[in-house]
Amino acid sequence: MKRIIVGCSNSKELAKKIAKTTSSEYSELLTRHFPDGELYLKFQCNIKGAEIVLVQSMHPNPDQAMMEAIFASNTAKELGAQKIILVAPYLAYMRQDKRFHEGECKSNSIMAKLLSCTNKLITIDPHLHRISSLKEIFNTSALSLTANHLLAKFIEKNYKNSIILGPDMESYQWAEGIALEAHEEAIVLRKKRYSSRQVRIILREPEKVRGKTVVIIDDIVSSGHTMIEAVKQCIKAKAKKVCCVCVHGIYAENALQKILSAGAKEVVSTNTIENKTSKIDVSELVAKAL
Ligand code: R5P
Repeated sequence: MKRIIVGCSNSKELAKKIAKTTSSEYSELLTRHFPDGELYLKFQCNIKGAEIVLVQSMHPNPDQAMMEAIFASNTAKELGAQKIILVAPYLAYMRQDKRFHEGECKSNSIMAKLLSCTNKLITIDPHLHRISSLKEIFNTSALSLTANHLLAKFIEKNYKNSIILGPDMESYQWAEGIALEAHEEAIVLRKKRYSSRQVRIILREPEKVRGKTVVIIDDIVSSGHTMIEAVKQCIKAKAKKVCCVCVHGIYAENALQKILSAGAKEVVSTNTIENKTSKIDVSELVAKAL
């Protein structure tokens, strides 16, 4: 079966790399908006009988990005694709995984239902917190990859003799695994979140970071407040240098600049979301999974 890698709006560069690594045909999805804001899209390749791999990160503009993936997937089916795989390197709507207050939408399961129009979903480090597997919300096959190994290799190469720090208990799973692989030590901070933009971080062992290069690891940097508070604690504890490494660099509301202003020397992410910090390439990881 012929495989075509289709670059959607948010992941054209990554899609090209995946196509190159897998020696597959590459085609770009043509998109534009009608004057009223509605989405128009068009495939520029021959879909019939092919395996179509749509590559679309769900950031920026998560709602539009999702609509594009849903429209593209349904269109590919109508045009006779034999198999449709959606590679969503960053999967949005995973953090509202509970009705925290009466009347709220539990976004993760609704998003999963909407994206179950494909034969298979492949994503990287989805935010699994109150659920432990994508199988709990997806009706179709859903594969969750991890970029841990890539982060560990990057840290081993670029930040030798550092201490790896997870800003909260959830992130410790990444921090600990990465530290083990990069042959460094890991510690975890305590975090209390009061709202989307307000968190409090406590560093219980300041002596562990004093005079050290600290690498703070997280899965997602969104508003950046988790990183900002963690960076501030490390600076207060007299760390020599503080760097931040994450899988998904969302950087809402100018978060990147705020983290740097808080004292971080460098912020690095993978290219699950394409931006100027995405120095860790996930294309081979995805290619191997296809
Ligand atoms: C939390 O559970 C996640 O692992 C991240 O720490 C969180 O999503 C980061 O969000 P923000 O950048 O808005 O603090």
